[in-house]
Amino acid sequence: MSKVDLLEKYGPAALVTGASSGIGEAYAKLLAAAGFDLLLVARRVDRLEQNATELGEKYCVNIQCLKADLADPLAIAAIDNAAQALDIGLLVNNAGFGLKGPHHLNDAVQLNEMLQVNCIAPMQLSYQIIPRLLSRGSGALLFTGSVEGIMGFPNSSAYAGSKAFVQNFAESLWGELEDKNIDVLVLEPGSTDTEALDKQGVDRSKLQGMMSAEAVAQIGLDNIANGPVMIAGEENAQMFTGLSQMPRRDALRMMAKTMADSLVD
Ligand SMILES: NC(=O)c1ccc[n+]([C@@H]2O[C@H](COP(=O)([O-])OP(=O)(O)OC[C@H]3O[C@@H](n4cnc5c(N)ncnc54)[C@H](OP(=O)(O)O)[C@@H]3O)[C@@H](O)[C@H]2O)c1
Repeated sequence: MSKVDLLEKYGPAALVTGASSGIGEAYAKLLAAAGFDLLLVARRVDRLEQNATELGEKYCVNIQCLKADLADPLAIAAIDNAAQALDIGLLVNNAGFGLKGPHHLNDAVQLNEMLQVNCIAPMQLSYQIIPRLLSRGSGALLFTGSVEGIMGFPNSSAYAGSKAFVQNFAESLWGELEDKNIDVLVLEPGSTDTEALDKQGVDRSKLQGMMSAEAVAQIGLDNIANGPVMIAGEENAQMFTGLSQMPRRDALRMMAKTMADSLVD
């Protein structure tokens, strides 16, 4: 979809969560370049503001930044409040994080926070925005899922479960909204070169076929109207199509090995 079509179809404003780094930051840049006004959300508001200043000046768009911790259930009301002032046609539910290693060795509090950020926050933000998209007669919801939402991932159990929620939730919304001029896409990246890898203890030198955040975000924006689900990148699509056709036990054993091999020694 061209920048002009994107703005015409889903503009004038977009809300992007997790816009302080990685894929969300790339979405913010691409959307600003397409002429969208933006509401950017993350905890590291200094990074949001730095980008907002640069992008606002470069593309003559209005960018607002909101510091919010999506692990806090009260954050949704604050975001909704800030969003009321804008005519938002596109919600990018992107913020998220993962926890690797054996499930029982992860921190119990962080596990709950992960489910809040990865699942509850996008579910609630969608709940708030859908009535407004319906009343304006157009719009889109774009989710950042993961290839880990397609099947189980040993040593990433709760994260994989959280992304399976995102996939099923987004697919269901697609079915509810397809005849209402509201597009829904869950984009499922594989390994992407962002801070997320470092935060999870993944050794990027052991990864194959890693994509850039910009390439992933571009695929998302190009395919909003091609929902409900898309795996980011041809190599990932082939790999996961193959895996889902294998006997499940074999596929899970292969994924367990891949995951174990990718972690920092
Ligand atoms: N990188 C990969 O290999 C990969 C693969 C598949 C899917 N994904 C998904 O892609 C999405 C973006 O991740 P990324 O790879 O771009 O990693 P990233 O650079 O670490 O970005 C994560 C973003 O989410 C925000 N975030 C995390 N916890 C938050 C919280 N409690 N409250 C508010 N915002 C929060 C972060 O902002 P603050 O820290 O400033 O709050 C940051 O902007 C996530 O949903 C992730 O699960 C990534």
